[in-house]
Amino acid sequence: MVRTAVLVSGGGTNLQALIDARRGGAMPHVELALVVSSSAGAYALERAKNAGIRAEYLEKTGFEERLNSLLAEEGIGLIVLAGFLRILSADFTRRWAGRIINIHPSLIPSFCGSGFYGLRVHEAALARGVKLTGATVHFVNEIPDGGQIIAQRAVEVLPGDTPETLQRRVMERAEWVILPAAVEAVAAELEGESDK
Ligand code: GRF
Repeated sequence: MVRTAVLVSGGGTNLQALIDARRGGAMPHVELALVVSSSAGAYALERAKNAGIRAEYLEKTGFEERLNSLLAEEGIGLIVLAGFLRILSADFTRRWAGRIINIHPSLIPSFCGSGFYGLRVHEAALARGVKLTGATVHFVNEIPDGGQIIAQRAVEVLPGDTPETLQRRVMERAEWVILPAAVEAVAAELEGESDK
């Protein structure tokens, strides 16, 4: 199994999808070993504790240095950004190339890049009048939402949708489905590599 760290900043519904997938046997190559939050009050930290996963809040000052220590201490081999709102340095993402992935709530390359996060993504989709949106899992590089795409799933925009109703549908029908599948696929690939 690949010891995996999940970086969070908010409610942690994507983390919960990973916890539930692991519990249901859908991620046999993944060990959820660590959750790190950039926000002290993130409910994601509660979700981690309830699932018996080490949960740490790191303040802004020295964030990456302390993150590096935690990742080494826990022998982490894969990082998942799940509702994580900090921008990681190019040096950090280069060192983790191929071993750090992110979930974004749109069909990249639409509605992505700096400034597109959370509800803002769905506000932009509604403002543009797209009939389909969805979610994307991609490798992380130094360009925000710029890394190689791993998985995508489309979701219909319905008449009368608000940013909140659209966000919820994208989470339920897309994010919480493709993230566990993508994390398992990447972990299995990484484990296959290490067996060679
Ligand atoms: C949500 O907007 C989600 O679409 C995006 O990050 C935000 C919070 O996700 N991935 P979570 O509930 O903290 O996983």
